Amino acid sequence: MTPITEQDGVWRLDGVDLHALADAVGTPTYVYSSATIRARIAELQQAVRGLDARICYAVKANPNLAVLALMAHAGLGADIVSGGELQRALRAGIPAQRIVFSGVGKTEAEIVAAVEAGIWRFNIESRDELHLLCRVSSRLGTLVNAALRLNPDVDARTHAKISTGRAQNKFGVDRDEAWRCFADAAECAYVRLDGLHMHIGSQIVELDPFREALGHVAGFRKELDAAGYPVRSIDVGGGLGVRYALHAPAPVPVQDYADAIRSAFADFDGTLVLEPGRWLVADAGILLTRVIRVKPGAERPFLILDAGMNDLLRPALYDAWHGIVPLHAREASTRRYDVVGPVCESSDTFAVDRDLPMCGAGDLVAILGAGAYGASMASTYNSRPLPAEVLVDAGCHAVVRERQTVEAMLAGEAARGPGIEPAP
Ligand code: LLP
Repeated sequence: MTPITEQDGVWRLDGVDLHALADAVGTPTYVYSSATIRARIAELQQAVRGLDARICYAVKANPNLAVLALMAHAGLGADIVSGGELQRALRAGIPAQRIVFSGVGKTEAEIVAAVEAGIWRFNIESRDELHLLCRVSSRLGTLVNAALRLNPDVDARTHAKISTGRAQNKFGVDRDEAWRCFADAAECAYVRLDGLHMHIGSQIVELDPFREALGHVAGFRKELDAAGYPVRSIDVGGGLGVRYALHAPAPVPVQDYADAIRSAFADFDGTLVLEPGRWLVADAGILLTRVIRVKPGAERPFLILDAGMNDLLRPALYDAWHGIVPLHAREASTRRYDVVGPVCESSDTFAVDRDLPMCGAGDLVAILGAGAYGASMASTYNSRPLPAEVLVDAGCHAVVRERQTVEAMLAGEAARGPGIEPAP
C-alpha cells in the first residue's frame, strides 16, 4: 500500500503536501515516492545477498527516466522489451552490459540496435528469433550472449490476461523446441546460447507456482549440462505480487521468494537474474486526481474524477482493485459511490459500490498502488493529453514528466490527405 500520511488534515507523500502539489502541478498527476522505491530495491538486494544474482528491473512497469535513474544509481540493470525501452534505459544511465532483452516479437531493427549497443544478453523466445539473431550477429561480426525462455506450462494462478507460463501462451518454447534451439545455436559462431529464462506471469501472490516453474528450469538445466550444453545463467523473470487491498491475500514475502530461488539452484554455480517490475514500484505511486462532480445514479451516486481509464487502465482491463482515498479534511459520514472517469465508455470505472468519506466537486483524491503499469499504460484516448509525473523525496518534488500539451498530442498530424483540401 502506498505510504501516504495524514496529519492535521494535511496529506503527504515523502513529506510533500499533496494539496500544494496538486495546486502547483494540476491533476491528474502520478506521484512517486523515491524513498519507497529505494527501500524496495534495498529489501530485494538484501534478500538475494550471497547469491550471484543480478537484478534487471522490468522497464515496462514504470519507464519514467527518473525512475530508471533511481534503478541505475542502485546498480540495477534493466529488462527491456523494445527498441524504445533500450533507448530509455541507456539514457537513464543503465549500462548496456546490465541489459537483458525479452519479448516474442523482436524485430531485426531492434536486434541490430541492441547488438550495436552491446547489451548483456538476449532472452530468445523462438527458434526463428534465434536464427535471426545468428544472422544479425554474424553480419555485424559481434559475439552475443543469449538465454532461451522455457515455457514450463505452469499455472501462475493470477489474472488470465497477465499469465504467461501456460503451454497455450505465446511465450517461450517447450522442451522439444528448446533442444532444437540449443543444437542450432551450437552451429552459430556468433551466438553463445548458455542461459535459460522463464517468466510465468505477473501479480503472483503464491509461492507454489514459482517453485514449480523453478523446479522445471532447474531440472532442464541439468539435462542440458549432461548433454554438453553448459548453462551459465538462469533468469527467473519477474512476477512477484503486491498487496493492492487490505482484504486481498498477503503476497509472498520477498525473502521467501529469494529462498525458493536459492534452494532451486543450490547446486548451480552460474549467475542468476531477476526481472522484477511491479514489486519495486507499484506501492511507490499514487494517481492524484480531483472530483469533477458528483452525479446521482439509479443505484448510487457517481463520483466523477478528472482521471480516466486512459490514465490508469488496470481497473478497466483487469478489474483491478486500487485503494481510493479522498484527501479533504476528514469527513465522518461515508457514502457508497461508483468511482468513474470522464471517458465515454462504461469500462471507465475505478471502483463499484465503494464506501468512501462524502466527497464533493473539487476534492482531491489519491488512487493508490499506481506506481506500476499506470503511466506506462496511459494513452490519449478521448484526446486526453497524457498526465504529468512527479517524483517526491524528503519534502521536495520534481516534475519528471511534464503534462502533455494538446499541441504535443497533435504533433505529427495534419488535417489533409488524398482528396482533402487543406483546412482554411
Ligand atoms: N519479465 C518479463 C519477461 C515480463 O514479461 C514481465 C512483465 C516482467 C519481467 C515483470 O513482471 P512483474 O514483476 O512486473 O510482475 N500490465 C499488467 C502487467 C503485465 C506484465 C507484463 N510482463 C498489469 O497492469 O497488471
